[in-house]
Formats: sequence, C-alpha cells, structure tokens
Amino acid sequence: MNILFAVSEAEPYVKTGGLADVAGNLPRALAKRGHRLILFLPLYQEIRLKNPALAEVARVTVPLGAEPVPGVVLEKVDPDFPGCRTFFIRQDDFFDRPHLYGPPGEEYPDNGPRFIFFCRAILEAVKQLGLEIDIYHAHDWQTALLPVYLKTLYRDLASASRAASLFTIHNLGYQGIQEKEIFPLTGLDWSEFTYEKLEYYDRLNLLKGGLVYADILNTVSPTYSREILQAEFGFGLEGVLQQRRNELFGILNGVDYDIWDPAVDPYISPHYRIGRMSGKKRCKEKLLQKCGLPVLGARPLVGMVSRLVNQKGFDLILELLDAIDCFDCAFFFLGTGEKEIEKQLADRARACPEKISFICDYDNRLAHQLEAGADIFLMPSAYEPCGLNQLYSLRYGTVPLVRAVGGLNDSITDFNPTTGRGNGFKFFPYTTEALAATLERALSLYRKPRLWWKLRGNGMRCDFSWAASARQYEELYRRMQGLSGKPAKKQP
Ligand code: ADP
Ligand code: GLC
Repeated sequence: MNILFAVSEAEPYVKTGGLADVAGNLPRALAKRGHRLILFLPLYQEIRLKNPALAEVARVTVPLGAEPVPGVVLEKVDPDFPGCRTFFIRQDDFFDRPHLYGPPGEEYPDNGPRFIFFCRAILEAVKQLGLEIDIYHAHDWQTALLPVYLKTLYRDLASASRAASLFTIHNLGYQGIQEKEIFPLTGLDWSEFTYEKLEYYDRLNLLKGGLVYADILNTVSPTYSREILQAEFGFGLEGVLQQRRNELFGILNGVDYDIWDPAVDPYISPHYRIGRMSGKKRCKEKLLQKCGLPVLGARPLVGMVSRLVNQKGFDLILELLDAIDCFDCAFFFLGTGEKEIEKQLADRARACPEKISFICDYDNRLAHQLEAGADIFLMPSAYEPCGLNQLYSLRYGTVPLVRAVGGLNDSITDFNPTTGRGNGFKFFPYTTEALAATLERALSLYRKPRLWWKLRGNGMRCDFSWAASARQYEELYRRMQGLSGKPAKKQP
C-alpha cells in the first residue's frame, strides 16, 4: 500500500513528546512490511538548520481565506530509511521559529492558521507531485483537517486515487480549538460549521473534524479507546466518539529497541543486559553524580522524564514530595512544561537536595541515562493514551510504577510476589494516598533482592517492538480499503 503520514513532529527530525517517537518508528516498521511510506512534516527551523541540502520538488499555493500563501515542498532522500519518502513543507513565516507549537507551557497564537495551512499544503503537494495514495493517516489536532478536506474540498483527489483516511488520537486533551473567526481560513463552507461537524460551543474544533470525517479512528491503546467514550476521559467529545464507536480501534504503541535498549543504547555506558546487570549499578552511580544526589547505598532511585503538565499526575507527586521524610528513596525529575509545575518541583528540590533533584530541561541523552540509572520509573498519570516511558523502563530493568489508565494499564501488570508474575506496580484511585501506598509497596519489595530480580527480569523480557503494532495498523488499513468497497491497488 502507499501510505501517507501527515504529522506535526517525527523522530529523528523534531520531537516534543511521544507523537514523534510513533511518527518516526511506525512508518519504518510499515516499510519493513513492504509498504511505501510518504511522510509530510512542516519545515521547522530546527529541521532547516540541521538539513541544509534538501531538494526542492514543488511549489504550492494555499488559499488561507482570501490570501494566497505560498509554500515550498522539499524532499529528503534518506538511505537509512528505504521505502519511505520524507517531504517537508516550507513556509518560513509559519514554521521558521525556535519552537514547534510555542515556548514550553505556551502556544503560538496563530497555531490554527499554521496547521490549517499545513493540511492543505500537503494535499496541494500530493496533487502537484502526482502521488498515488491508498491511505491517508493523520495524527492529532494538527492534521485533523486532512480527513475533512478529503471528504470536501479535495473529494476528487481522494476518489481519483480511491483513498481512505485513518485518524489516530494520541491525546484527546489537545483539540486545537480556535475562535470562530478563523473558520473562513479553512476554505470550507459554513455548512461544515455545525454541531454535528466542526463546531464546538460556537468555536472551531479541529480535532473534532478528524473524529467526524475520517473513515476509521484509532487511539494508541485498547484501554484508552474505551475510556474516551466516557465523560471522565472524553474531554467533551465522548458523544462524538460514541457515535463512531464501531469504527474506533485501539493499537498499543511500540518501542524502537535499536535505540531504547541498555545493551546497545548509544547514550549510556556501560551497557548491560539481562544476566549481566552490573552495568546498571554503574549507570546509577553516574546518574546520581550528574543530578547532584548523594550516593544512595541500598536505597532506590525513583525517576521520571516527562512533559510537566497536569496530565502526568504532578498534583499527586507534589503532595507526595511534601511527605518526603516517609520514603526511603530519592527522586530525580527531568522535564519542562508548565511554569507553575517547574517552580513547585524546583522548590521541593531546593528544600530537600539530598533526596530530590530536578533538572528543568529537554535532554534526550539524559532521558536515556535516567532510564538506565533509576530503579523505579514513576507515571501516576491522570490519563495516558499510551505512554512510552513505561515501555522503555521495562527493557532497562527500571520498574514502572503507574496508574492503571490507558496504555499504562495495557502494558503493566501488578507484580504478585506469590506467583512471581507481573512487571510493575499499578494503582487506580487518583489520590496521593494510593500513590504513596503503592510506592511503599515498591520500596519494601526493593528490600527483597530475590523478588526484585524476578520482577525486573520479567520486565526486561517483555517485547513491545513495533512489528506487532505495525501488523495491526496494516489490518486496519486493509479493513479501510474493504470499507470503501474498492480493491487494494497493486504494490508499486
Ligand atoms: P507524551 O507524548 O504524553 O509526552 P509519552 O510517554 O508518550 O508521553 O512520550 C514522551 C516522550 O518524550 C518519551 O520519549 C520521553 O523520553 C520524551 N521526553 C519527555 N520529556 C522529555 C525531556 N524533558 N527530555 C527528554 N525527553 C523527554
Ligand atoms: C500522546 C500521549 C501519550 C502517547 C503519545 C504517543 O502524547 O500523551 O500517552 O504515548 O501521544 O502516541
């Protein structure tokens, strides 16, 4: 199949969160299965600076309301990525900026126009380059207009190539809600601005467009695909999703074990693997030095790498840290995000430097080193569509302590010391008490080395490689082609 991925961030080009891990790895896994992938990304400043020799392949003009906005389509030929063509849309006024969506904790005020432009520019590029597409795969609010356009302004393009669209919800908490005044920039008819379609409390909801118009929807874990049908997790869109429940699927994300594996990880030293774990001890010592914590001896290090947003459970964590004296362990947090959470974590670290460290930064190398050096990885999320760090942690022998929601629920099984089964610690009530009790349970198990080794080994043996997820996406794509009642095109 010819599969077009429209996405706002992807490894190895740019990353703010897990979406980039998925958009970097899933296309590769699909290409390995013989599909032809076409990836579209905005040409952000960071990409432009790192890739000075991109080839211009087309010029497009996108009408944003009455204004024609020019864009340039550039292609990167990547020999390490056979089976995939990567295109960048260059529009410097929109994308040549120091951040993707805005400085940490903020949003650029013109994010609506920026991504309306991006979606339409992709379709203009498809037209100009004569690309044959079977599947349009859009992700999150930034590219949610793509399925809308394929059923409206670009209907001819979609039917000429007999294409179907899949929309993946990575996070329902971000919907790209815009003032109504922006709507004319989409070029869509006002008849699309209704309660059943793109309107949401008299504003434009871009994500809702994807939910309504894509042929099929999926989320990034089976549990999250069920949770979002309820008001507690639906962020106001549970009604829309309920209407589409028969076309809504859940596929767990995977891990790129070429990068996230302590036996080969280029960012850590020494390497280690199951059966040869002495390297992990050394990684912990180095990490403690780096984050300014004292030698812990027999005490565990609890780590967390995260965007600092409410989704990740920081209200519980901050309360937990207020009772730091109760816990015989140290904490290391790495992350950036909302200013208030940054401040609160910094305050806690200042008040108790021998047990709490916080580095306010986005640092991929340190994220890998934290995975290797910590003993326990904390993810008490309020909601978590999939979550990747718990999957990485398993492979690093860093035991995940998670809340039983979304992908955390699907990937982590609570350890049972009697049967020796399970790969982490799990709790459900969203309370500091439940988190504290689970941490206490983890700390006491840590003091029983035989059981801890068993638990850690169980995690390290888990396999969440992308191949399994790619197979499931392929099934969805085939089902979509069946739905549209048209035979799949021949492989080129
Ligand atoms: P989300 O996409 O909601 O942020 P995920 O768990 O799916 O959560 O993915 C987060 C990804 O971003 C992981 O690969 C994680 O290592 C990375 N990450 C988050 N914050 C940082 C940071 N401060 N420094 C380095 N990597 C980070
Ligand atoms: C989102 C979610 C996260 C998920 C990631 C990739 O950012 O918050 O849970 O792992 O997307 O799908």
